[in-house]
Formats: sequence, C-alpha cells, structure tokens
Amino acid sequence: MGRPATLRIRGVRPHLAPYTENVSAASDTLAESAGRQPSVGTSRRPARRLEVAAIKSDFPVLDRQEGDDLVFLDSAASSQKPIAVIEAMDHYYRTSHANVHRGVYRLAEQATNLYEAARSKVGRFVGASDPSREIVFTKNATEALNLAVRSWGRANLRQGDAVLLTEIEHHANLVPWLMLAEEIGVELRYLRVMSDGELDLSQLEQKMTGARVVSFTLCSNVLGTLVPVEPIVSAARAAGATVIADGAQFVPHMRTNVRELGIDMLAFTGHKMLGPTGVGVLWGKAEVLESMPPFLGGGEMISDVRLDGFTPAELPLKFEAGTPPIAEAIGLGAAVDYLDGLGMEAVRAHELQLVEYAMRRLAEDHGDRLKIHGPQDPERRGGVLSMELEGVHAHDLSQVLDSRGVCIRAGHHCAKPLMRCLRVGATARASLYVYNDESDVDALSAALSEASAFFGLR
Ligand SMILES: Cc1ncc(COP(=O)(O)O)c(C=O)c1O
Repeated sequence: MGRPATLRIRGVRPHLAPYTENVSAASDTLAESAGRQPSVGTSRRPARRLEVAAIKSDFPVLDRQEGDDLVFLDSAASSQKPIAVIEAMDHYYRTSHANVHRGVYRLAEQATNLYEAARSKVGRFVGASDPSREIVFTKNATEALNLAVRSWGRANLRQGDAVLLTEIEHHANLVPWLMLAEEIGVELRYLRVMSDGELDLSQLEQKMTGARVVSFTLCSNVLGTLVPVEPIVSAARAAGATVIADGAQFVPHMRTNVRELGIDMLAFTGHKMLGPTGVGVLWGKAEVLESMPPFLGGGEMISDVRLDGFTPAELPLKFEAGTPPIAEAIGLGAAVDYLDGLGMEAVRAHELQLVEYAMRRLAEDHGDRLKIHGPQDPERRGGVLSMELEGVHAHDLSQVLDSRGVCIRAGHHCAKPLMRCLRVGATARASLYVYNDESDVDALSAALSEASAFFGLR
C-alpha cells in the first residue's frame, strides 16, 4: 500500500486561552452534574477557554454581510465549515482522488489510505476500541439509524417484541421504527417527556420490562435536554435489551466515549460537527455489527457473488455498498482534527457558559413574553434554545431576525410528536456552537426586541 498524501492544511490551530477560574468552575460544575449523569461528555480535567475571535476567523462564511454582520445561530440544523475542512476536501480532489478499495495503482491506494485514516480519526474521536471494524460511514445520521433499525431490527425482532423509544425523538429515530412496526408488528413504547423538558424515568423499569431494544437521543434537538444515559443503559442491561443512541446533537458538542456510555450502537452526522454534508457514521460494537446482515446490496459490500447467492464482505465494508463518500469522510476527519485541537471539554465548557449567558440575557430583556422550552438549568441542556415569543409565529419571527442578519430555525424541527406534547406548532430555535460568543446572543436579543416592536408588542 502507498503512503497517505501529506495534507497541508491551514486553520488547525488550538484556539485556546489559558485556563481561567471562571471556566474551571463551569467545567467542575459540569463534572459534578455528571454524578447524576455519569460519562456524558465530562472529565475531571479543567477545560480551557475557547478563543472565539480566532475561531470565527477560521470560518470564511462568517465574513458574509447580510446588511448587518451574519449571526449564525442554526448549527443544530447544520454547522458552518472551517477552512481546514474545506481545504482538506479541496486538496484531496486536486491531488489524490480515485475510487477506494479497488485500484492497485498508487493514486487509488493513496485515496484508500486517506479514507481509512479518516475512519480511524472518527473512531478515536468517539472512543471506539477498533475503528477499522466498528466505524461504518453512511450518508448521514438518518441513514445510520435506518441501518441499525432495519438490519438489527429485522434480524432480531419478531411480532409483538417491545421497542422502547422516547417522546423527544427526531423523526430519524422514529419513522424507521414506525416502518418496522408496520412491517413486522413490533410494539413501540415511549418514555414520556415532562413539562420541564426532562424524560419521566419513573416508569423506566416497567417500560423496559420485556423490551428487546431501547433507542433514544442523547440530546434533544428541540429542548436541548441531555438525556440521562446511565439509568437507561442500566435498565437496558438488566432487561437484556440492546441500546442504540442517536448522537446527532451530542457528538458535536460533548466528549463522547462509546465504551463509557455503555451503548451498543451510536449514530451521528458529519455536517453538524464542522464536517461536510453527505457523510454520517454508525458506530457499533464489533460483535453487534458482526451479527447483523447487510443493509444495502451492491459493489464493495461483498467478498463473493455467484448467480445463486453472495458472501458479504468483512466489517465495516459489508455495510458500505457502492462508492462511499470519500472526500466527505476525509473532510469529516479534518473536522474531527479541528474539534480535537479545541478539546471537547473546552467546547462543552464554552457552550455551557454561553447558554447560561443567553438564558439570563433573554430573560432580562424579554421577561415573560419569551418562553424558552426545555430544562431551565443550563447544565441539563446542550446549546439549543427553542423560543416562543408571545403573539408572534416562529416563521414571522425568523424572517424579522433574518432582516438583521440573524439566522435561526423556525418550525417543528423534525420532531412532530414532541411538538404535540408541547402543544405548539412551531418554535424559533437558536443554536450555539464554537464560533458563537456573547455578541451573537446580544444580536439575537436586540433582534427579538425589534421583532416585538415590529409586531406591536411593546
Ligand atoms: C437528534 C437528531 N437526530 C438525527 C438527525 C438527523 O441528522 P441528518 O439529517 O444529518 O441525518 C438530526 C438532524 O437534525 C437530529 O437533530
């Protein structure tokens, strides 16, 4: 095999300020809260402070003017991309592109090495024991969840078997199960969401009794709720149930270690974690993936094909039918390098401080006219703020904010059952990431004041 091409990439700089009292406090409190929720993106190491001004300069799109400066607060839908990711993909296409796992010429070997190096990086990022077998590249988190549900579900579930989900799931972790329920008649049970945005775990053991699998999001894309993993995993282990986690809103923001979490499969998506669109990941314990049949059939995923049958390839290729997202996986590898450079503890500490600031600032400026859904304790949530401004529809609000250059997401956030539980049709969701700082929150609050004035509410 040839050696991987050397990538010369700008923008992978550790944008970190020295450790400060303040941030250490945030990180320590976070670690304490891990008492209630162990192994969730925390460690005892003090987190350093992110240098957001320097980070912003790594994201070319943030220079864009929308009349005002662009204030991007929609990273929960899709994050922006640093130069490092853009250049990694550009460099790959300029110097090293060929199809992977096929050619025996040097260029093809180089492309294969770069693709497999990305797999290793992504695996290390989530603490996989054997990235070369346990990391499957998919199109996105949705495809990763469909793979898990259809392959594992069809092989292991029979009519009447119980599947435990929650009311806060994104459609990506709901519709595949509904499809399976239609196909083979499994029973879907749900952990309820309470009015404070937390899951009601009082019936956890009862609902887990007899369940063959539990599948849940680690962080709600609507409420920001950080789901308490430990009690759910413990109950699942006691019941002998398989555990599937949707990490789409978690992996980009929190230190993730699949072994510490104690789960069996984890789905996440590249474009929400500074990587490109078109690539997602299913991590699975090797023995779990081994036991699952292929999901899609075609080239790449076989070791032999005859006219009367086929033999699937070894892991992970048995789940990667057809030409994979090569440049996208390489871009995701560069995104992981960038996040590693920042340090995931520092990323979490930064977001926690920013959420604290945002909740305080928005309450001061807008009082009872603005409702923020989900847990009111910032430590119980990720960087998602789903808002309702009294008397203003979320779409109207989003349009007025856009006129000030502030990008937020309005709608049902692909979580219609949850919206029904909340008794709202739509919310206006602002979401925070590594390139946001207090000035972005201030711009959001000022734009909300303008919207209030525009709609005659003050
Ligand atoms: C919690 C959650 N799960 C899954 C997804 C699906 O991600 P993708 O659209 O990249 O497949 C999303 C996207 O918003 C999400 O927020």
